[in-house]
Amino acid sequence: MSFYNKQSELKPLLNSLLEAKNTIGFVPTMGALHEGHLSLMRESLTNNSVTVVSVFVNPTQFNNPEDLKKYPRTIESDIEKIKNLNSSIIVYAPEIDDIYEGKTISNSFDFDGLEFQMEGKHRPRHFDGVGTIVKKLFEIVQPTNAYFGEKDFQQLAIIKKLVQKHHIPVNIIGCEIYREENNLAMSSRNERLAANERANASFIYQTLIEAKKLFGTKSAKEVTDWVTKIFGKQKMFTLEYFEIADEATLLKCKKKNKNKKFRAFIAVFVNNIRLIDNISLK
Ligand code: PAF
Repeated sequence: MSFYNKQSELKPLLNSLLEAKNTIGFVPTMGALHEGHLSLMRESLTNNSVTVVSVFVNPTQFNNPEDLKKYPRTIESDIEKIKNLNSSIIVYAPEIDDIYEGKTISNSFDFDGLEFQMEGKHRPRHFDGVGTIVKKLFEIVQPTNAYFGEKDFQQLAIIKKLVQKHHIPVNIIGCEIYREENNLAMSSRNERLAANERANASFIYQTLIEAKKLFGTKSAKEVTDWVTKIFGKQKMFTLEYFEIADEATLLKCKKKNKNKKFRAFIAVFVNNIRLIDNISLK
């Protein structure tokens, strides 16, 4: 494994690898690595001659300063995990100034409305922060293929839009949600849950499975009302939103349509820790 924290040192290496006709697979992360991240790295290692992993907690995508402060930072164990997975991986873990050059602000993006749905409603300017960092990282790493988990399905859709609108020559590969044994979607935030919260958080996925079944016979509104009702009875969980939306536009499903792919999206607070998940309704 080789480690870089300056783009001025990383770029010449990547330029020479590209000139030698290597393909670069890229896995951007904010660290606190778990099996979900490692599965993206495995995918990249299988399909590219070079794999680059970035570890950077991007301040501009946090709308809540408390969340940014509490976001786990575990660079030493992250490096250990990457080394154990594959010693050829190139790690880029910059300091803030290597990315933002003294101005830690995000640019504004137009993602054709995808940015105003769900996460966008609850996390103002979050996707401007994501767009800013991902575009900068793509410029530095110049990946052939970049890997993102479907847990952040809206982020994945927005990154596809970013690449399309800004003509960035990279293939965006979405990878299935990686789950813990109890089916809780893997997330760096899970580390902050108490043991009983983590065990009981399987309720989120069970609700999605039940919602999927109900959507076979009920309308999106009826399913949403049912989810809202059962979360109303829960002490440990506070529902922020549940929405059934069109996968392509992320607009709320008003009427079922067999030519469209719908997906259920959920965001839940467990003792101030925010968890998200989603499921295809096909
Ligand atoms: O999904 C994440 O971990 C982050 O949003 C990303 C894509 C690394 C950008 O900071």
